[in-house]
Amino acid sequence: MAGVRIAPSVLSADLGRLREEMAAAQAGGADWIHVDVMDGRFVPNLTFGAPLIRALKKVTTLPLDVHLMVTQPEKYIDEFADAGAGVFTFHPEATIHVQRQLTAVRERGMLAGLALNPASPLALIEEVILDLDLVLVMSVNPGFGGQSYLSTATDKIRRVRELLTRARSPAVLEVDGGITVDTVGAAFHAGADTMVAGTAVFGQRDPAAAVQALKAACRLTTPV
Ligand code: DX5
Ligand code: ZN
Repeated sequence: MAGVRIAPSVLSADLGRLREEMAAAQAGGADWIHVDVMDGRFVPNLTFGAPLIRALKKVTTLPLDVHLMVTQPEKYIDEFADAGAGVFTFHPEATIHVQRQLTAVRERGMLAGLALNPASPLALIEEVILDLDLVLVMSVNPGFGGQSYLSTATDKIRRVRELLTRARSPAVLEVDGGITVDTVGAAFHAGADTMVAGTAVFGQRDPAAAVQALKAACRLTTPV
């Protein structure tokens, strides 16, 4: 098992204990911290912006994996780069000039990612595959933590992996939504290398052990 990455999502963390939550995730071997930015328009929920990214920068050394579920994500490229975002992932339906924005993200020194909703076809990333550092396959409809993994995501991960291999792209393949010790193995064997987990980490009594359990589950499950 070549190093699977776990990216605990702050959406499920206790924001009043941000320092302790981040320390626990890091102690368990978390690789990135996932930050869900929602604007109440692209998705029916409202969360964080640059102030939280700046606050996280003070309490963790882990790269900040920012997932924007907002319309016109280009409005936040400079602000989020200045705040310390390491990855900037947006949804292709949320902006008109996707290739221009991917280039702008890279120019600001962040990894450029595109996220695919459950109903979004791979065609949305095909033409810009070499402009991408990361593909995020949504395994729930975005907006809320604690939803169940949609099993159709597994085959989609497999198809994105084939696309990346064909294009000789080294991009990260991340999965987001409903990842638990019971579902992470399927996503891993289908070709995902980076697992977002909210409830399965910060919703647990011992977040450090929860990160370790997710990594172990990738090692222990057999391909389906
Ligand atoms: C969903 C967000 C996810 C969320 C995952 O809209 O994009 O990142 O935090 O939460 P869980 O792991 O609880 O499904
Ligand atoms: Zn997310």
